[in-house]
Amino acid sequence: MQAFALCIALALAGAQLVHAQTAVAPSAAPPGLYAALGEKAGIDRLADVFVERLLRHPRIGPQFQDVKPAALKQSLAEQFCVLTGGPCTYEGGSMREVHADMDINKGDFNALVEVLQRAMDAQGIPFSQQNRLLALLAPMHREIITVH
Ligand code: HEM
Repeated sequence: MQAFALCIALALAGAQLVHAQTAVAPSAAPPGLYAALGEKAGIDRLADVFVERLLRHPRIGPQFQDVKPAALKQSLAEQFCVLTGGPCTYEGGSMREVHADMDINKGDFNALVEVLQRAMDAQGIPFSQQNRLLALLAPMHREIITVH
């Protein structure tokens, strides 16, 4: 199931070139997704669980060891909120700049997507809604993956 969702997200990525240069794309927000994620409170909880799981992840956890978890949670929550059409402002950096020196490859990216899927499962977010959020994030691979 997880792999299937990932395939869908990456397939949809190809169709969403328009998002490739931006960290957020409010105009593309799918109707109802913000509400389906539980609005601001639900997205905050998701960011919290997501980052806690990232920190413990055997493959990519080490890349987050010097990061302030509270700040990362806040940035991710803002980003997800804006992407899904919520009334938020994203104040973090561009995906390209933020991840530029991290040597991120496809396996790292896929690992992060899987952690996010599991965090969404843990929050009881329906599979169909998970895929809608993943479809918004998947195009960012063009800015984030720097090692091919
Ligand atoms: C769809 C995939 C991804 C998204 C949407 C994403 C999103 C973000 C966002 C919003 C921030 C905060 C930026 C800021 O506050 O200025 C961030 C920071 C960060 N990301 Fe990602 N990211 C993704 C993939 C990855 C991957 C694959 C890795 C490494 C395995 C990674 C490692 C990091 C690290 C270490 C930071 C903290 C940078 C710092 O505070 O110094 N990210 N990411």
